[in-house]
Amino acid sequence: MEHTYLINRACSLSDSIERMQAVAAFAVSAVASQWDRTGKPFNPLLGETFELIREDQGFRLVSEQVSHHPPVSAFHAESLSGDFVFHGSIYPKLKFWGKSVEAEPRGTITLELLKHSEVYTWSNPYCCVHNIILGKLWIEQYGTVEIVNHSTREKCVLNFKPCGMFGKELHKVEGYIQDKSKKKLCVIYGKWTECMWSVDPQAYETYKKSDKKGDKTKKNEELQKAENDEADDMPEVQETVSVIPGSTLLWRIESRPAHSATMYNFTNFAVALNELEPGMEAVLAPTDSRFRPDIRAMENGNIDEASKEKERLEEKQRAARKERAKQEEEWITRWFQMGTNPFTGSQEWIYSGGYFNRNYQNLPDIY
Ligand SMILES: *[C@@H]1O[C@H](CO)[C@@H](O)[C@H](O)[C@H]1NC(C)=O
Ligand SMILES: *[C@@H]1O[C@H](CO)[C@@H](O)[C@H](O)[C@H]1NC(C)=O
Repeated sequence: MEHTYLINRACSLSDSIERMQAVAAFAVSAVASQWDRTGKPFNPLLGETFELIREDQGFRLVSEQVSHHPPVSAFHAESLSGDFVFHGSIYPKLKFWGKSVEAEPRGTITLELLKHSEVYTWSNPYCCVHNIILGKLWIEQYGTVEIVNHSTREKCVLNFKPCGMFGKELHKVEGYIQDKSKKKLCVIYGKWTECMWSVDPQAYETYKKSDKKGDKTKKNEELQKAENDEADDMPEVQETVSVIPGSTLLWRIESRPAHSATMYNFTNFAVALNELEPGMEAVLAPTDSRFRPDIRAMENGNIDEASKEKERLEEKQRAARKERAKQEEEWITRWFQMGTNPFTGSQEWIYSGGYFNRNYQNLPDIY
């Protein structure tokens, strides 16, 4: 939600292609927070919730951990002015490849621009963390992300490129918007770690042709580099995006705050998420992440207490699961139910509403 301004921009635009461009930039920007964040994530507890109200950005959001094995977080955000609804689930299917771990995104993401009666859906790219055993950790995202406009079947196809042997493609994203007759209307390019641009398809082709000529001289140097390709290191070639004349900037990443490195490489937006502001305690659901004692201890720098609390919570979760098994009870999710996404027809976690009525009786005691 860090880049909600891009959704707000999409809502405000009258041209449908420009709207799709803003949505594409939003989809890319949403994975940019992964950059340099190779730490092992905290696994939410089953039934843990998180809410976020940002009046300055005009939205509110609620999420719930709806499954523990496999871990699935469902979320639902809506604009305070009724302009959009944004929902989906984060459901990474992990595969271990020895030296790396790959997360396949199973959840679908849906953005409804209500004023324009438009619905867009997509899935995130694959995410791979390299060198989990030895060497320096680094992140690669790859795969095709297709953003579909369900009203007309118009599409934006974004190709997150694997870094390749020489690392030339590292972090690159390239794609296009096409109409239903598959005519390319515009090209979108950039890096998910940096910025995204859009340009006319013709200008793009012309530029690519002139760019190819300079390429051959570089090849030899690169071949030499590839010889000592023992470890799975992140390639050093890290050119910035070269801007094709006539391009329009869609999004540029903000630099991380100065103390980011000591704060899990969080962005400015993420750093504030666990803040328990005055007055919040009285209104938040008791399952809210901000009340999670192990994370709070960690944030306060009490590492010993944090690990003790983490163990206690995990033990409590296991005991509760055993007890349910004994009573032959099923876990019941609170704010989301399995249902059919009307736009894609697939089974998904759908928000059942009511969270912000703030009636929090009968919530499970997970802390
Ligand atoms: C933060 O980024 C630095 C620089 O790339 C890296 O060395 C460090 O491991 C990262 N920390 C986390 C918690 O991901
Ligand atoms: C999406 O569908 C709507 C409704 O049919 C249409 O007006 C709009 O032009 C489409 N937008 C894009 C970007 O394809």
